[in-house]
Amino acid sequence: MNGNHYDVAIIGGGVIGGSIAFQLAKRNVRVVVLEKDRIASEASSAAAGMLGAQSEFSNEHPLISSMAYPCEKCPSTPCFIPFALKSRDMIVPLAEELKELTGIDIGLVQKGILKIALTEEENEALQRNYEFWRRMEQSVQWLSVDDVAVFEPNVTKNLRGAMYLPNDGQVSAPDLSLAFAKASIVYGAEWQEFTEVLDVAQEGDDYRLRTNHGTVHAGAVVVAAGAWSALFLEKTGLSLSMYPVKGECLLVKVEKPIIQTTVFAKNGCYIVPKKGNRLLIGATSTPYTFDKKVTVQGIMSLLERAQQLLPTIRTAEWERAWAGIRPQTGDGVPYIGEHPHYKNIWIATGHYRNGILLSPITGVIIADLVEGKGSGEFDLAPFSLTRHQATYTV
Ligand code: FAD
Ligand code: GLY
Repeated sequence: MNGNHYDVAIIGGGVIGGSIAFQLAKRNVRVVVLEKDRIASEASSAAAGMLGAQSEFSNEHPLISSMAYPCEKCPSTPCFIPFALKSRDMIVPLAEELKELTGIDIGLVQKGILKIALTEEENEALQRNYEFWRRMEQSVQWLSVDDVAVFEPNVTKNLRGAMYLPNDGQVSAPDLSLAFAKASIVYGAEWQEFTEVLDVAQEGDDYRLRTNHGTVHAGAVVVAAGAWSALFLEKTGLSLSMYPVKGECLLVKVEKPIIQTTVFAKNGCYIVPKKGNRLLIGATSTPYTFDKKVTVQGIMSLLERAQQLLPTIRTAEWERAWAGIRPQTGDGVPYIGEHPHYKNIWIATGHYRNGILLSPITGVIIADLVEGKGSGEFDLAPFSLTRHQATYTV
């Protein structure tokens, strides 16, 4: 076999490309991952690592309310919820598997997420969210101001109520991304860093991928290029409804732990306790930019909101700040499926705020699709590549 011929070429070496590479390589598929920069150098290393299967969603979330349900496979719940919950559940065995294969500890912490309401309006919305999770029969607890004072004594007393989601854990996003890459390599995958795929063309039953370092041939292609996916896919005549959303984060260090659980406010500010007494504070949301500059305004707003939630954070030591680009779609639902015009070009992108959470399930689903096994228990209609009825030029 030709040295640059693979069964599958994956475009993009973030957490999504890495998870897919891992699942395929594990099944003895000959895989190459083509990454224009370093492994997980974009959103996947910028992420806070929350596994927010419940904290990031509610019945009021556009992603849930926009979905047509009940559908055949999920008669009583929006498809996205079982999808996110299943992915969260997959992380626990995956953490062990990845550790065994690569020696990398992905930093799984299962101490839940505490969602805080600071105003009466936020409290009402949070209560509706709490009722929703009760109806979904998922673990959730309502905490009063006094309960919070006992549970997390350093959290502000100036709150109206809180919802605790014990099963929403967190990981180290850079470590998970790296572990997927290394585990795929253990199973025989190749990674080519600093290799940008310029275009893809059909050649008989195969695809020829032109890169800045020559050409690669593959029987199938997976586009997992994060926020850059739509730009790339335009070259194949597919117009997706996608846009970048910049997020800034920062890291501080405290002398001793001041919170056990992740604290998440309705205004989008969250504080995630990380190893070594570090606190990750996130995140801003600036749509329509690929510019990763960290701004004074962004950092000031995060610090202000963090102090409001956790007043003792004032004495923390500054470490660093960074920004990443989230891949958002027009309706907030990722794109997962086959290119409408090219057989065996698969697409997995648009995971927006939840790519770390959704990486395990996305890897398995794309690997199953590539192998012709279908999508199993999940109806992929909501993730369809053609749902926006975009204009095709081919
Ligand atoms: P990326 O990580 O962006 O990877 C895509 C890769 O494709 C990049 O490395 C890029 O260089 C490469 N690429 C692009 N074009 C080409 C090309 N033509 N050729 C070769 N390579 C190419 N999610 C959670 O689940 N939990 C969180 O707590 C969380 N927090 C977040 C906080 C912030 C501040 C941000 C920015 C995001 C956060 N996310 C979180 C979202 C998560 O980071 C993303 O959804 C996820 O990383 C997307 O993964 P990806 O692999 O699709 O994209
Ligand atoms: N999921 C957290 C973020 O995207 O900021």
